[in-house]
Amino acid sequence: MPTTIDKYAYYQNSVQSPDVDSQFLQRVYTSLRGKEPVTLREDFCAAFALCCEWAKLGSDKKAIGVDLDEEPLEYGKKNYLSQLTPAQQKRVTVLPQNVLSPDMPHADIIAALNFSFMGFKTRPLLKKYFENAYKTLNADGLLIIDCFGGPASMEPNESESEYDDFSYFWDQDTFDPITNEGMFYIHYQPKGKKKIEKVFTYDWRLWGIPELKDLMDEVGFKNVHFYWEGTDEDGEGDGNYTKTNKGENCDSWVAYVVGEK
Ligand SMILES: C[S@@+](CC[C@H](N)C(=O)[O-])C[C@H]1O[C@@H](n2cnc3c(N)ncnc32)[C@H](O)[C@@H]1O
Repeated sequence: MPTTIDKYAYYQNSVQSPDVDSQFLQRVYTSLRGKEPVTLREDFCAAFALCCEWAKLGSDKKAIGVDLDEEPLEYGKKNYLSQLTPAQQKRVTVLPQNVLSPDMPHADIIAALNFSFMGFKTRPLLKKYFENAYKTLNADGLLIIDCFGGPASMEPNESESEYDDFSYFWDQDTFDPITNEGMFYIHYQPKGKKKIEKVFTYDWRLWGIPELKDLMDEVGFKNVHFYWEGTDEDGEGDGNYTKTNKGENCDSWVAYVVGEK
């Protein structure tokens, strides 16, 4: 019998830190705007774990998750939304919708995390997304996205990380330097069982930070800021991101790009 896993639970354990992310989003908004954000729209939200953490940050906090795919949305309702208090649950809504739809709800922060916008592989398409985000941000709103890069992300390689009861594999299967497109996969291997290949598949274009800034400028964002990760004593990323205009040319990096309406 083939091994079955709870792929969204594995994904949350290995890829996401929605509690840390929600606090980061709040900190960025507060420091740039000098006031507290109220509404978060989580685009490409999948099981909307971030929306659920956002609702825990305060009794005024509201979150809207948007994703095309009903499967992760249903998973999130059963497994994450149900863990919130009734009052918190009322402040989280989800929309099974395309983030390019013209009638998207307004928000103080629009967050598109874990690189999901990289599915928009042409400039016109990504521009359309940024335009739509700009239009639907409240006054003083912020678009917050993350991106990754560095020489190691531009060549085929596979890395393994061990968790309590499984291993996580990030597989950069292909990379084309002409288009900057790559095929990326997540595989999982439950302890003592066979590896399950291609649990998640990402067909992405790796967008560079200057390209993202140019596009944000072009659609009207007033300022664009960059948040870079600090390093620990072993020279590894320490998970603390601070605003800077100078990146460090590491083998692989993750950074946040923030557009101010
Ligand atoms: C990488 S996953 C989600 C990552 C999640 N935001 C996180 O932080 O882990 C990408 C999600 O984007 C959704 N998606 C892709 N294109 C979309 C679109 N045009 N509109 C809405 N959702 C989309 C997919 O259904 C998938 O759930």
